[in-house]
Amino acid sequence: MKEIICKTESKSKYSIIIQNGLLDKLSTLTNFFSKYKNVVIITDKNVAKYYLTKVKRQLRKIGLDVYAIIISSGESSKSLAEAEEIYYKLQDIGITRTDLIVALGGGVVGDLAGFVAATYLRGIDFVQIPTSLLAMVDSSVGGKVGVDLGYAKNVIGSFYQPKMVLTDPTCLSTLEDKFLVDGMAEVIKYGCISSSKLFLRLMSFQYQEDLLEDMEEIIAKCVTIKRNVVESDEKEAGIRRILNFGHTIGHVIESYFKFRRYTHGEAVAIGMYQITKMSTREGITNPKALENLRYILETYGLPWELPEMEMKRVVEILSKDKKFEGDTLNVCIIPKIGKSEIVKIQKEQAIQLFK
Ligand SMILES: NC(=O)c1ccc[n+]([C@@H]2O[C@H](COP(=O)([O-])OP(=O)(O)OC[C@H]3O[C@@H](n4cnc5c(N)ncnc54)[C@H](O)[C@@H]3O)[C@@H](O)[C@H]2O)c1
Repeated sequence: MKEIICKTESKSKYSIIIQNGLLDKLSTLTNFFSKYKNVVIITDKNVAKYYLTKVKRQLRKIGLDVYAIIISSGESSKSLAEAEEIYYKLQDIGITRTDLIVALGGGVVGDLAGFVAATYLRGIDFVQIPTSLLAMVDSSVGGKVGVDLGYAKNVIGSFYQPKMVLTDPTCLSTLEDKFLVDGMAEVIKYGCISSSKLFLRLMSFQYQEDLLEDMEEIIAKCVTIKRNVVESDEKEAGIRRILNFGHTIGHVIESYFKFRRYTHGEAVAIGMYQITKMSTREGITNPKALENLRYILETYGLPWELPEMEMKRVVEILSKDKKFEGDTLNVCIIPKIGKSEIVKIQKEQAIQLFK
């Protein structure tokens, strides 16, 4: 069992517990849960099929009144319309500010349920139970919650920290391979930006079973890296930007293909490789790092080559990047595996990344 404590500038402090089989032991967390009366579990159809009964049963054992709201799976549920439907259901149940919301699912459920928790009755407590790899290593930690506005991802939202994050890595056994690969891009990112040890460990696995067996440890390492960054920069004014390694190029690729051709992880994988190709060309990154990055991406079935894209459209999408300050963009580069820094590049230079 690993417990990581996250303290943020907004003075909230919460535990992230990572343990194989944790979902079968939730009833042992009586101290935490017994201060609530009603609990509403927000989850999606896929996750409900595997885990809802188990989580309900555990929370009822503590004596809580447990309700469930099941949404459709997929990004399209991360909308204001879905949030509104949930608000009405919470109102019907009679949820008050002393009750609790549990987000049981991947990043979509976590972001949406967190957003609802942040806004309903001006904020009620919530707990994250992440079930996808991406949610375990990334979206459940850091307090970013929100919904999309059409194709504009995450443009409506807030920073709202959970009261606890409960991660059971054995849930990954039911996750489809494509989502596991998607989450691996973020895991590889943590190795690149902050831990050569993690990177080498990921390079050493021969089979998926070996990787899954080591997941408790790997997730704890990734979460510790994210926690350290988030604690010192909750609202992404400085160091938190290193978490965006590969994301500037990645977002352009995702948007260019309307989120259909590439998953988020695949687009970030291409982004990490391409930005490192640039920093290697400029003599900042050691060429061996670029070679290892390509090797690891290929090993995990992730792409690294830039797809063909029409430059006019690329420039249009790139120009809308929220990270621009005037004509300057802050991007994360890695001088070597496990070390990262933020550099400023001009718009013209950013455009060159796509040529
Ligand atoms: N808040 C943040 O800091 C942050 C960071 C990164 C990404 N995100 C957001 O996260 C979302 C992507 O998250 P995601 O990749 O988890 O997507 P997701 O929530 O859609 O989950 C992927 C798929 O896996 C299914 N699933 C999840 N856990 C499962 C399990 N254990 N067994 C079987 N099926 C399971 C889901 O039903 C879904 O079909 C995006 O909306 C993105 O914007 C947020």
